Amino acid sequence: MAEQQQPTIASWLRQHESLARIELEVALCHVLTCSRAHLLSHPEQSLERQALDQLDHWVDQLHHHVPLAYLTGEQEFWGLALSVDERVLVPRPDTEILVERALECLQEVSAPAGTGDLMALDLGTGSGAIALAMAHERRDVRIHACDVSTDCLAVAEANSRALGLPITLHLSDWFEGIDQHFHVIVANPPYIDSEDPHLSRLQAEPRSALIARDRGLADLRSIIEQAPHHLAHGGWLALEHGYDQGHSAREMLARRGFEQIGTRRDLGGNERVSWGQFTQYEADLSYG
Ligand SMILES: C[S@@+](CC[C@H](N)C(=O)[O-])C[C@H]1O[C@@H](n2cnc3c(N)ncnc32)[C@H](O)[C@@H]1O
Repeated sequence: MAEQQQPTIASWLRQHESLARIELEVALCHVLTCSRAHLLSHPEQSLERQALDQLDHWVDQLHHHVPLAYLTGEQEFWGLALSVDERVLVPRPDTEILVERALECLQEVSAPAGTGDLMALDLGTGSGAIALAMAHERRDVRIHACDVSTDCLAVAEANSRALGLPITLHLSDWFEGIDQHFHVIVANPPYIDSEDPHLSRLQAEPRSALIARDRGLADLRSIIEQAPHHLAHGGWLALEHGYDQGHSAREMLARRGFEQIGTRRDLGGNERVSWGQFTQYEADLSYG
């Protein structure tokens, strides 16, 4: 009987070409502890049994829609290497648009003399992605972040420590446990309808990070409703939402009294992030 040939990097990539090439390459780099350049320059390298077993297990998991980030234990966001696992949503590239907008909002506000530092809040921080990206860009801003899940806060805290980016974490159901006021509030809340067919591909991630009542709008509505009580005068609220929720988000912001309302599209051309500024006096202006 002919001896079975040991798979090589090239043949293994060919064998699994129904999966995204970039994911296969990242998996190979991780398991073989090598660079992408090495993969490209050594396609004939044989894969040892142990590496092959791990890679085949990962391929099986990818076919079951387990995100690669859960397998490698890391995800890059805003150029930062974040540790992630099943306790948190894997941060998405589209969410970097929310970070961009939040940084622009911070440029537009300034703390009145004698009131202390600029303050920003990330609601539903998960892995800490948004808060840590902001902390990385603006060391002068006091960044707070909350989540209703202690598991998420543990991941965010570990990432904050590992990256040396201090943020203040709160266990809170949206604003319930928050008594400060902020110049910028951002949130990427759950916004998927429980009947949405896309959910079948997101089974590995926490349902509590994904699904919201009322066609996915319940958490967006509750944040828009409560945010003015926690915004400094002239403060901004910026929200990520579903591809078809831009109109509803703008309408809810306008009805709550926000001004300068805008929306930005993602790379796929879908409305993804909406924002507004609140200039009425609702917050009692105690900073810190
Ligand atoms: C879509 S995930 C976003 C995670 C992270 N901010 C990101 O962009 O990758 C939503 C997050 O909101 C949190 N969350 C859900 N309901 C919440 C609530 N009532 N109060 C605070 N956080 C909540 C979830 O635990 C989850 O971490």
